[in-house]
Amino acid sequence: MLSRGSQINVTIEKMAIGGAGIARHEGMVLFIPLAAPADELTVEITLKKKNFAEAKIVKILKPGPSRRTPPCPVALVCGGCNWQQITEEEQRSQKQQLVLETIQKFNRGVEFEYLPIKASPRSLRYRNRIQPKFKNGNFGFFARNSHAIVDIKDCPITEEDLTAKFPEVRAFAEQKRSQDLLKLEMYIAEEGDIRYGLITDDDDGVGFSQVNRFQNEDLVATALEWAGDYSYKNVFDLYAGSGNFTFPLAAKYSIATIHGVELNPKLVERAKSRIGNKPIKYFLSDVENYMKKAVIGREDLVVLDPPRAGASEEIMKKLAQTPPRKIIYISCHPVSLARDLNWLFAWAQKLGKSFKLSRVQTFEMFPQTDHVETIAELVVDS
Ligand SMILES: C[S@@+](CC[C@H](N)C(=O)[O-])C[C@H]1O[C@@H](n2cnc3c(N)ncnc32)[C@H](O)[C@@H]1O
Repeated sequence: MLSRGSQINVTIEKMAIGGAGIARHEGMVLFIPLAAPADELTVEITLKKKNFAEAKIVKILKPGPSRRTPPCPVALVCGGCNWQQITEEEQRSQKQQLVLETIQKFNRGVEFEYLPIKASPRSLRYRNRIQPKFKNGNFGFFARNSHAIVDIKDCPITEEDLTAKFPEVRAFAEQKRSQDLLKLEMYIAEEGDIRYGLITDDDDGVGFSQVNRFQNEDLVATALEWAGDYSYKNVFDLYAGSGNFTFPLAAKYSIATIHGVELNPKLVERAKSRIGNKPIKYFLSDVENYMKKAVIGREDLVVLDPPRAGASEEIMKKLAQTPPRKIIYISCHPVSLARDLNWLFAWAQKLGKSFKLSRVQTFEMFPQTDHVETIAELVVDS
């Protein structure tokens, strides 16, 4: 019987959402952080539950073919990246498989075209917004599963323009002469300049922006291409942020009215400052509240790009009740995407409507981590 502290030998089958490697031992599923596919390992049980256990690597008996030395010297202790020990090609292959399995698990029998994952133009030096910490002279990110700070001079996944400012930001934090943990934010602004500051209880930072601008271009272009050439009457951009999709949608569908819906006032303000005389209406609102009153018709397009928690059953129900012509769902968490699709199909069936999941594609937006972006196209069968 396995218990905490037991040591066993296992082989990693594949990677899991959350980033750990999966192995099996006497019917028990084990989650092992920092593993790589096909690794043969001696591991020690760190947590034992009824149906699964967690374990840490004690010894690598035989590395899997995709195991490599991480490009970052602190990758195995820093909590920032969890897949640096795996080659980029294998990271993509794992993500491709994980998204497929997750959608299928929640939506048995639903068929769709599944396109190959799009690699990121950059696997390193792609992040344009980071939130380092500072305490007791240490500047960096939290260690894995800890609030200790891993002191860094560089971060290889972050754009050079930001890492070049590390000494300046470290000095800025030192000058605060605080014993408390300081949370910082650094980012490349849309205007191109580098900005940084403290995140406090009163100021939660700049708000959401796509962190990989190199891959974001392709994501936006794909969303527009999949939305097609139809003359939509209304385009709803739900979870619109500061307009990453809203403005390109407005440029493509120039005769449509574009409705952007976003909860963060800073992002709404930033978007509104760019609207000028374009036919864009921007709403500071929770999407679920907005959808209660939204009038959506068969000549409309809905784009939704929710946070990791996904949308909600109410939102998917509303989309099933009054279906638009097409839905483009952009997701940063496969489980919430798969669950939301399931709600949409279930409600559509109850209401006598029919949706087709036409195509799905994953985008490598966050190399060196288990995170993945997915785009899905849903068409209403007429
Ligand atoms: C994944 S981001 C996408 C933003 C934008 N589409 C982009 O590409 O930059 C999700 C956005 O949803 C916003 N958000 C989170 N919960 C929300 C809610 N309940 N209602 C409206 N917006 C919400 C967040 O502030 C964030 O801007």
